[in-house]
Amino acid sequence: MEEINIRCMKYKDIEKAMEINKRFLPTRYPYIVWLYLYLMHRGHNFVAIHANTIIGYILADCNEILSLVVHKNYRRKGIGKMLLFHALNTYDKTLCLHVRTSNKIAIKLYKSCGFKLQNIKKSFYANNSEDAYVMKRFIKTKYDVQSEINI
Ligand SMILES: CC(C)(COP(=O)(O)OP(=O)(O)OC[C@H]1O[C@@H](n2cnc3c(N)ncnc32)[C@H](O)[C@@H]1OP(=O)(O)O)[C@@H](O)C(=O)NCCC(=O)NCCS
Repeated sequence: MEEINIRCMKYKDIEKAMEINKRFLPTRYPYIVWLYLYLMHRGHNFVAIHANTIIGYILADCNEILSLVVHKNYRRKGIGKMLLFHALNTYDKTLCLHVRTSNKIAIKLYKSCGFKLQNIKKSFYANNSEDAYVMKRFIKTKYDVQSEINI
């Protein structure tokens, strides 16, 4: 099997990533939102590529993970976690996300990457009024060893 690569999302990836979004996740964003995120927050957004084809993506802004999808044929290979790690590495502050309360797989993935359940937003999702969990990942303030030594 050819290698799977993760790289920053490019403008040309938007259309393909939107197709994967449409196919595998009921929560969607219009093109204008993708474009805005690409222009303003592109450093947080990544795609997974296999054989020159986009097989997954992560979409985020300055403080929230907005969407994460891996193509059905490529799941359980660690790609979702890899995409999430790539995005997480671009933040040094508290990060949040919303996830459907029924989405046990995604909740497990987020928990395994340090996110904790914070609260529930009732009827959050427009397509079926499903509740959302708000999950947060707190980044601890860095311990300043240097200043302690100097005191
Ligand atoms: C959620 C999703 C992105 C995970 O992608 P993935 O590449 O299959 O995930 P990974 O292989 O990296 O798995 C990471 C962890 O997630 C959990 N997980 C993933 N698939 C799972 C499954 N079928 N059953 C139970 N746990 C699962 C496990 O904890 C796993 O770690 P482990 O393999 O060490 O046990 C993928 O299932 C998907 O695209 N789902 C549809 C879209 C979606 O729900 N996105 C989240 C919206 S908030």
